[in-house]
Amino acid sequence: MNTNQIITLVTGGNRGMGLEIVKELSQRGQHVIMGARNLEKGRAAIDELTKLNLDVDLVQLDVTNSASVTEAAQTIQQKYGYLTILINNAGAVFDGRQDPSVVKLENLRDDFAINYFGLVDVSQKMLPLLQKSTRAKVINISSMMGSKTEALNPQSSVYKAIAVGYQSAKAAANMYTVQLAKEMLRKNLPITVNAIDPGMVATEFAGADPAQVKKMGGKTVEMGVARTIELATDLDSKETATFSNTEGQVGW
Ligand SMILES: NC(=O)c1ccc[n+]([C@@H]2O[C@H](COP(=O)([O-])OP(=O)(O)OC[C@H]3O[C@@H](n4cnc5c(N)ncnc54)[C@H](OP(=O)(O)O)[C@@H]3O)[C@@H](O)[C@H]2O)c1
Repeated sequence: MNTNQIITLVTGGNRGMGLEIVKELSQRGQHVIMGARNLEKGRAAIDELTKLNLDVDLVQLDVTNSASVTEAAQTIQQKYGYLTILINNAGAVFDGRQDPSVVKLENLRDDFAINYFGLVDVSQKMLPLLQKSTRAKVINISSMMGSKTEALNPQSSVYKAIAVGYQSAKAAANMYTVQLAKEMLRKNLPITVNAIDPGMVATEFAGADPAQVKKMGGKTVEMGVARTIELATDLDSKETATFSNTEGQVGW
C-alpha cells in the first residue's frame, strides 16, 4: 500500500486548539480527519474550513464512548487503510478549584474518562492503522497542569492551580506517553509518541471566555498549537517519549 499521503486524525477537532490544528495541518498538505463527538458541530466547523478551500474529512468520535472509537477506527480502515498521525487533543476538566480533601469522585472519574481512558482507548484502536504507515506519530495534548515538577515549583505558573482530577489524568496520560513510546522502541516500530504542553490558551476550555483568558495572559490558539504543529510536520524526527512546549522540555 502506498502510504505517502500523510493522514492525520485530530480528536476534539471541531473547536479550540483541535480546530486550529486541523486547519494548519490541512494548510500544510496533510489529509486531516476531524474527530468530533457531535457531527453537527463537526459539519459546521468543516463548512468554515471549506470557505478557506480546505478539504477536511469528518468522523464521529466520542473518546469516552468505546463503540464510537471502534467505529471511527473501522471507518478510517475502510476509507484509507492506514493512519500517519494521531493527535489526542480532546480534553476537559470537571473538578476545577475543588480541594483534594473534598473533590467529588464523580468529577475525578469524568476527568479520567476523557483525559486518560479516552486517550488510551483511541490510541489502542488507532495503533493497527498507524502500524501500516512507514513512519507514524502519536501526539498527546497534555498540560503543564499534569507536571508534578511544576506543581512543586513556587515559580511556576501552575503552582497555585487546583484541579487534582484533571492534573492526575494528564499526569497519567504523560506516563502512558512514556510507556507507549518505550513499547514502540522495544518492538522496533517506527511510531514516535510524545506529549505536548500548549500553555494557557484562549479557548472556551472549561467554559472560559477566550477574551477573558487573553486578558489574563492566555496565548492565542495559533501560539497554543505551535509546538504540536512543529512536531506533526517533522515526520522524520525520531524524537520520542518527550514532554515539551515551545520553550523546550517540560519536567514530568
Ligand atoms: N486551553 C488551555 O489553556 C489548555 C491548557 C493546557 C492544555 N489544554 C489541553 O488542550 C486540549 C484542547 O483544549 P482546548 O483549549 O482547545 O479545549 P476546548 O476549546 O474546550 O475544546 C475541547 C474539544 O474537545 C472536545 N471534546 C469534549 N469532550 C469530548 C469527548 N468525550 N470526545 C471527543 N471530543 C470531546 C470538544 O467537543 P465539543 O465541542 O463537542 O464539546 C472540543 O472539540 C485539551 O486536551 C486540554 O486539556 C488546554
